[in-house]
Amino acid sequence: MNILVFGKDGQLGKAFQEQFQNSLSGSENNLRFVGRSECDLSEPSQIVNLLNSFEPNLIINAAAYTSVDKAEIESDLAFAINASAPEIMAKYAVQHGSTLLHFSTDYVFDGLKQGAYTEIDSPNPLGIYGRSKEAGEKAILSTFAKSAVGQYAILRTGWVYGDGSNFIRTILRLAKDRSALRVIGDQYGVPTSAVWLAKVAMHLVLDETNQRKFNSGIYHAVPQGEANWYDLACLATQVAKDAGLSLQASPGSIAPIPASEYPLPAPRPMNSRLSRVKLQAELERLGLMSKLPHWYQQWDEQVSAYVKNLSRI
Ligand SMILES: NC(=O)c1ccc[n+]([C@@H]2O[C@H](COP(=O)([O-])OP(=O)(O)OC[C@H]3O[C@@H](n4cnc5c(N)ncnc54)[C@H](OP(=O)(O)O)[C@@H]3O)[C@@H](O)[C@H]2O)c1
Repeated sequence: MNILVFGKDGQLGKAFQEQFQNSLSGSENNLRFVGRSECDLSEPSQIVNLLNSFEPNLIINAAAYTSVDKAEIESDLAFAINASAPEIMAKYAVQHGSTLLHFSTDYVFDGLKQGAYTEIDSPNPLGIYGRSKEAGEKAILSTFAKSAVGQYAILRTGWVYGDGSNFIRTILRLAKDRSALRVIGDQYGVPTSAVWLAKVAMHLVLDETNQRKFNSGIYHAVPQGEANWYDLACLATQVAKDAGLSLQASPGSIAPIPASEYPLPAPRPMNSRLSRVKLQAELERLGLMSKLPHWYQQWDEQVSAYVKNLSRI
């Protein structure tokens, strides 16, 4: 099986590299990871050439334009990478009977719903990044709708932390230099480990035995639990301190503020909670629950392990 992974230098791309090394080493799969220097996703011809030459059976798109605020002034680029590129991948997949695994975001929603968003809730993005990701979803859905061939999974996730830039790293960097921090306390979501996400995604779409077939569609992929940014900042600083990292700020010196006191170029949804019910049911249907030991762990265990790891670096 030829497996092509876009976005090798991002948080999720690095997590896939780790997962593949652990689970597929020694297997017959022909694996290729590409970053921006090997294939620029804003250049359609580079994508087409790579797909035609490598002939992937499974395409994993872990790349994206993820600069949420910059997208407000780089709309064309955001749409090229987040909408046009996945459409090219989808067209290849339906023409060749391949599988496309793509990732999307909680930012396709406006955050006004009470409770967790399900896959049938209507998107209504607040900014260009969210609109470009929604356009990518629509392009994949309409491409596959015209064909009975090929399979796709669009995993919407949120608040990802892995090997790269993310909120937890930013908070720990700030907490090293500043004794007091003000952090938004009224936006809610689910912190999602990139490693966990890569593992769940691989379980869903990869079947070495060819005995099961996942149902194509959109799935919300976040672990259990929820947090606001303030909770997460307190947890991260406490765990880092407990692990011996020297910080000036502590949970007691972090103050929650409303999002209205921290305006950003692109507005963020106040509610980024995503329902896991559909993904969990699909994994159960495929008989995969036993392969997901992390599924029922509380989110703070995952965050704690991650922060402890960061503290040692
Ligand atoms: N991070 C989050 O909190 C979050 C939340 C919800 C959904 N998601 C989604 O989850 C997925 C993975 O996100 P992530 O956190 O891993 O993002 P990330 O760390 O920002 O990685 C994105 C990767 O995409 C690559 N990329 C950007 N423009 C490119 C281009 N023109 N050509 C080729 N590669 C390009 C980047 O390359 P360079 O390294 O060269 O810049 C980077 O390696 C994305 O679909 C994202 O929308 C993320």
